Amino acid sequence: MDQHEILLKLENIEKRFPGVVALKSISLEVRAGEVQVLLGENGAGKSTLMKILAGEHAPTGGEIVVGGRKVSALTPTLATELGIGLVHQELSLVPALSVAENILLGRMPRNAFGRINWGKAYEDARRALEALGVSIDPTAEVRTLEVAEQQLIEITRVLERGPRILLLDEPTSALSDNERSRLFDVIRRLKQRGHGIIYISHHLSEIPMIADRVTVLRDGLVVETLPADEADEATVIRLMVGRRLEEQFPKETVELGAPVLAVENLASGRTLKDLSFTLRRGEILGIYGLMGAGQAEIANALFGLQAVKTGSIEVGGKRADFRHSSDAIAA
Ligand SMILES: Nc1ncnc2c1ncn2[C@@H]1O[C@H](COP(=O)(O)OP(=O)(O)O)[C@@H](O)[C@H]1O
Ligand SMILES: [Mg+2]
Repeated sequence: MDQHEILLKLENIEKRFPGVVALKSISLEVRAGEVQVLLGENGAGKSTLMKILAGEHAPTGGEIVVGGRKVSALTPTLATELGIGLVHQELSLVPALSVAENILLGRMPRNAFGRINWGKAYEDARRALEALGVSIDPTAEVRTLEVAEQQLIEITRVLERGPRILLLDEPTSALSDNERSRLFDVIRRLKQRGHGIIYISHHLSEIPMIADRVTVLRDGLVVETLPADEADEATVIRLMVGRRLEEQFPKETVELGAPVLAVENLASGRTLKDLSFTLRRGEILGIYGLMGAGQAEIANALFGLQAVKTGSIEVGGKRADFRHSSDAIAA
C-alpha cells in the first residue's frame, strides 16, 4: 500500500448559496493513511465542504478527483460507491426506528423469502457497535437514547459501510473522554489500513492526539495546510481568526453590580434537575457542557418556552413565572 497515495483531490471548489458565498475556492487533498484535521471558525465553510464530498450539495465551481475520476459534482450514491462516508454534525438518525434499523438503513438483511431477518439485523448491529466499544441495545428506539448514544450510532452507521475516505464533522461534541478515546482508536486502525480521514473539530487539544496534518479554513478559503507538529494552538488560532485572539477580544475589567437574574433549584424538562446560579449586572456567565447536557433547556426555561417544575427564577429581584416567551420578553 502506498501511504502517500492521494485518495481525494479538490480543485478550486466554490459553493454559492443565494446571498452567501460559503466556499470561495478550496483546494486540498486527502492521502491514504492520514488524518487531516480541518479547522475554522463557525461559518468558515467546513460542513458545506463535507456535504459536497458526500454528494449532498453540488458545488457551483471547481472539480473533485476521486477514485480515478474527475467530476464536477457527486451524488450521494456516487459518493458511497467511491468509498466516501460522512458522519454529520447534526445527527441524521430516524428517531422512531430502532438502533439496528438506523445502523443498517437501506441494507437490512433478508431471509430467503425476502423478509427482514431481525435476528441477524440485531446481531449485525450489536457487532458493529462493539467494534466501537459501545454496548447499546440494538432493539431500542433511537428517540429513547441519550444524545451521546445517538452520536455513537451515527458514527457506527457510517463506519459499517467501510468507507475508504471517512469524513467526521465534529463527532465528539457529545462524547465523554472515554468514548472519544475509543473513537480515536478506531480512527487510528483505519489510518493504519490506508484509509484517509478528514476530521473536523473545534477542540484544539485534539490536534496532537489524532492529526497528521491540519488545514485551516477562513471565509471559504484554505488559509494553510501544515504538519500537525507545527500546529500549536497559538498558530492555529492566529490562522483561524486572522489575527491574535487577544487583539480580537480584548478582556475588559468591569465592576460587577447587583444580581439581575437568580435561578434557584430549578428543575425543568428532561435534564435540568437542580440548577442554581446568579447573574450580576456587568457579568458574562459562560455555560459549558457536552451536547445534550441541558444548555438548551436552560435557555428554554429562562425564555418561557419550557415549564418550570420546581425551583424559581427571579428577574431584577422579582419572582418570574413565565408561561409564554412574551412574559420573558416583557421581563
Ligand atoms: N443550505 C444553506 N443555505 C444557505 N446558506 C448556507 C447553507 N449551508 C450553509 N450556509 C452558509 O454557508 C456558510 C458556511 O457554513 P458552514 O459550512 O455550515 O460552516 P461551518 O461548518 O464551518 O461552521 C455560512 O455562512 C452558512 O450560513
Ligand atoms: Mg459545521
